[in-house]
Amino acid sequence: MNIRRLTTDDRPLYRALRLESLQESPEAFASTYADALLRTDESWESQTHSSATGPDRATFILVDSTQGALGLAALYRSEIHPETGDLLQMWVSPALRGNHWASTLLEEIFRWAGANEFSVVQAEVTPGNLRAIRFYEKYGFVSSERPDGTTILTKHVDPPFSRGSASLICFAESKPPGAHR
Ligand SMILES: CC(C)(COP(=O)(O)OP(=O)(O)OC[C@H]1O[C@@H](n2cnc3c(N)ncnc32)[C@H](O)[C@@H]1OP(=O)(O)O)[C@@H](O)C(=O)NCCC(=O)NCCS
Repeated sequence: MNIRRLTTDDRPLYRALRLESLQESPEAFASTYADALLRTDESWESQTHSSATGPDRATFILVDSTQGALGLAALYRSEIHPETGDLLQMWVSPALRGNHWASTLLEEIFRWAGANEFSVVQAEVTPGNLRAIRFYEKYGFVSSERPDGTTILTKHVDPPFSRGSASLICFAESKPPGAHR
């Protein structure tokens, strides 16, 4: 089993996986399977491309060498608050629930978020999806509830270890007296 970011060639795989998740867990998502079936190839192509390239969107998939793709999670940069990423499309196949696969997907999301200047990851959970809420809280998300019953969960993103700032500290410590930059 491995986790990787979508590539620009993944449109058919991404479409199939997303449709499977919408069909299997219709109550968990704002999009519906019926609407997704109506989308054009161009629409899937465009979404795949934007999720496979650049610093504003990334979709990660969980792939088994024999069984194919079995999970996904996406982070999309908020247009209003660019340091916030909206966690979307989180799904793992029922056979993989209750173990570490969903949290391993989240680890990839947070690693990518840290490397791409996000400071917060935010997930919106539909009313009644207690398993998802419990899962996010276990991972360290903090929840708050909107008047409509939707739960918002947020978690701070740790910045990546920065080689640049470490060497700056070394330089500052070894700087000879009187040296200027
Ligand atoms: C959400 C999802 C990715 C979480 O992955 P997972 O492998 O099921 O998560 P985990 O099993 O590690 O954690 C779920 C927790 O909820 C608990 N749980 C299960 N059913 C529950 C329920 N009805 N009420 C409250 N808690 C529940 C589990 O016991 C577990 O907690 P524990 O480890 O303390 O025992 C996965 O369930 C999934 O794909 N669900 C369908 C799609 C979905 O809901 N996506 C989220 C959209 S926001």
